[in-house]
Order: sequence, then structure tokens, then C-alpha cells
Amino acid sequence: MLFTLVSAGVQAQDTEYRENCLKLRSPQLMKLPDSLKGRDIIELSEIFKTDKAPSMHNFIDVYKRHFDPIRDSVHRVFEIGIFNGASHKMWKCYFDSVEVYGIDIRQKPWVEKLGIHTFIANQAKREDLDKFIEFSGGEFDIIIDDGGHWMNHQQVSLGYFFEHLKPGGLFVIEDVHTSIPKFHDGFGVKPSLENTTLTMINEYIMTEKIVSEYMLPEEIKHLQFNIEYIELYKRKNSLHSTLCVIKKKEK
Ligand SMILES: C[S@@+](CC[C@H](N)C(=O)[O-])C[C@H]1O[C@@H](n2cnc3c(N)ncnc32)[C@H](O)[C@@H]1O
Repeated sequence: MLFTLVSAGVQAQDTEYRENCLKLRSPQLMKLPDSLKGRDIIELSEIFKTDKAPSMHNFIDVYKRHFDPIRDSVHRVFEIGIFNGASHKMWKCYFDSVEVYGIDIRQKPWVEKLGIHTFIANQAKREDLDKFIEFSGGEFDIIIDDGGHWMNHQQVSLGYFFEHLKPGGLFVIEDVHTSIPKFHDGFGVKPSLENTTLTMINEYIMTEKIVSEYMLPEEIKHLQFNIEYIELYKRKNSLHSTLCVIKKKEK
């Protein structure tokens, strides 16, 4: 009897929790509740159901390692690729006093109304990126690329935006596994693999030189001169969960 009662209580609680999570993910949401401020990043990833959560890519594990120590000093976050807004909402709740920016090729009005700055731009088109920098002012503490994941997307954005990252800032490229031959068809990977983001990263690790057919010479120079470190994370037993963290030198 006791077991039934307790279990009924847990079930009721679970249902309420699930309903609250669904409300937070709804396009009708008008405001992010203050009660989510200060929560753990892993919990927030599950609440908002971003694909960074443990139940999906589990990139959040890496984010926790890098972001927890700088949580109080981050004021400007920019993520490429908004989709339904899950991760942008998460950053807004996780960092205490932050302006969150996002670009996407599609309009996201339900995200904008939560105080997240959204802008329509193709991450592979420098003229769009110029307009975004004019709109936002750049100077980001953190930049995350979770956009289209094509080779030109990842490398144009890294080359272009690294200059707009503050000294000591972090640049994250998600889904670097799209460089793996298995995904040849969809992401602009050449059969020789010479143009892939993974090849570019490995080349840098071996020679400290950036080789990219998608970047401008001045972007390459800026990158080579300003990288403090590159870390590549590959999750065991998954070919779908590789990401890269690049730290910019402190000036
Ligand atoms: C994986 S979803 C983003 C998920 C979101 N960051 C999260 O973690 O909840 C990828 C998004 O990138 C956008 N996208 C695709 N190609 C793009 C491009 N060339 N420039 C900007 N955004 C792009 C898509 O429209 C989609 O909304």
C-alpha cells in the first residue's frame, strides 16, 4: 500500500515536471522563469531538451567542464544555429548576466521575444556575417557553431568569427564528425578528405598551421597567431558526437 502511494506521488511529480518542461519548450512561452537561474548546466540541457543533452550527443559534459569555471565572467554568448531555441534558452538561464545572440537561415520570432537576439544569416556568407556583426557589436566571450555543419559552414565561420571573439574566449565547433567519410554526400566532404574540418584541425595539431580553402589569408594569419589551444573530443562508441574547443590567447 505504502509503495503504491509513494509511487503514485512520484508519478504525479513526474507528470508535473514533464508538463513544466513542455511549457518551457513551447513557442507560446513569454518569459524564461527566474527559478531556472543558477541551475546545473546538465539539468538545463535536459529541461530544454537540446541535442547537447546526455540523452543525445552529450556535448554538455564538455560544456560543463569548460563553462562552469567561467560561469560568472561570461556576458556575451553567440551560437550559430537556433532551430527551436533550446540551447539559446539554456545559455540565457545558465549564465547569470548574459546577452545571448543567435543566427539562423530561418526566422525565430518565439526565441526573440524571450530576450534572445536573433538574426537571419547564412553562416557561410561573409556579407551576412558583416551585417550580423554590425547588428550585434561582436566581442563575444563564447562562440558556438551548431549550424549547418558543412565544411564551408564550419571553416568560413571559424575564420570570420575568431576575430570577433574576446581574448581568452572559447570557440566551439559541434558535430565535427560530419568530416568523417561516412557522411560524404551531405556535407561537402571531398573524397580526398583534404578540405575537411577534421583534416584542418589535425594539420594544426601536427604543424601549428591552418590550411583551409574556405578562409581568407588574413583570417588564417589571425587564427594561427591567436590560438591558445585546440581540444578535440570524440565520444567512445559513437561516430556522431565529436566536437572541438578552441581557446583564444589572452592578450
Ligand atoms: C542542430 S540545429 C541547432 C540546434 C540548437 N543550437 C540547439 O542546440 O538546440 C541547426 C540549425 O542550423 C540552421 N542552419 C543550417 N544551415 C545554416 C547556415 N548555413 N547558416 C546558419 N544557420 C544554419 C538550421 O536552420 C537549424 O535551425
